[in-house]
Amino acid sequence: MSTDDAFFSVNGVSYAYADGTEVLSAIDWHIPAGAFHCLVGRSGCGKTTLLKLAAGLLQPTKGQVQIEGHMVHGPSPKVGFVFQTPALLEWLPVIDNVLLPISLHRRVLADDRETARGLLDLVGIADLAGRYPGQLSGGQQSRAALARALVASPPALLMDEPFAALDAITREELQDDLLRLVSLRQTTVLFVTHDIAEAVYLGDRVAVMDRGRIALAASVELPRPRNTNSRYDQQFTAQCQHIRAAMARPVAEAA
Ligand SMILES: Nc1ncnc2c1ncn2[C@@H]1O[C@H](COP(=O)(O)OP(=O)(O)O)[C@@H](O)[C@H]1O
Ligand SMILES: [Mg+2]
Repeated sequence: MSTDDAFFSVNGVSYAYADGTEVLSAIDWHIPAGAFHCLVGRSGCGKTTLLKLAAGLLQPTKGQVQIEGHMVHGPSPKVGFVFQTPALLEWLPVIDNVLLPISLHRRVLADDRETARGLLDLVGIADLAGRYPGQLSGGQQSRAALARALVASPPALLMDEPFAALDAITREELQDDLLRLVSLRQTTVLFVTHDIAEAVYLGDRVAVMDRGRIALAASVELPRPRNTNSRYDQQFTAQCQHIRAAMARPVAEAA
């Protein structure tokens, strides 16, 4: 595809931490505005590092990362994050946790509260707005974190295994919440997971990372909107197998 209409553009990016070992090598990746791309790979292959580079939290050793054609030098207000642990502030009620991306920058207005309540409603925890994080289940905390990432309406979201700690059914529900929210808002998403089925269910495109390189990038040919039936579709299984094969290694190499 043309790189001109990309929201995120990763061009020839390599990265080495302070000890000098290169953990990402020559990554090229372009995410068009409004697209949902997933990154899968084994633990330690470099997924979080790539996400941090896209977020401007790290600077590439070689190559460059661009957002809408501009070099990324630090965190951008255009990008929201969701981490593996919900990281809610335990001394603030849920509604104020959701409003945090706004309250850190300016006074919270009545409209903002309205937006936050609307998002809590969309993720199914409107009735818990006044509770503290310690009074929520893991799934409810993840829902609150998702609402928080979206409250300032960022055009893009970076998500690092946000549902990894949840049970299978809750995870499926959150995947559907996420798809609904980002399709309403045309949000560009880069979603990291080690779960192949999750990547195929969510993504327009799935990349497989292996030891710091992109081993495969495949389009997902499944119609949208996706729903429970999609998970039992033959095409779904075939896509998962294709990606699984790219993650396999010869027995002698397997960790
Ligand atoms: N702060 C750091 N300093 C040195 N090495 C690191 C640091 N963070 C991660 N690494 C190493 O970089 C590699 C990729 O890590 P990471 O991006 O976290 O992988 P993933 O998210 O795929 O599990 C691993 O070998 C890891 O040990
Ligand atoms: Mg990681």
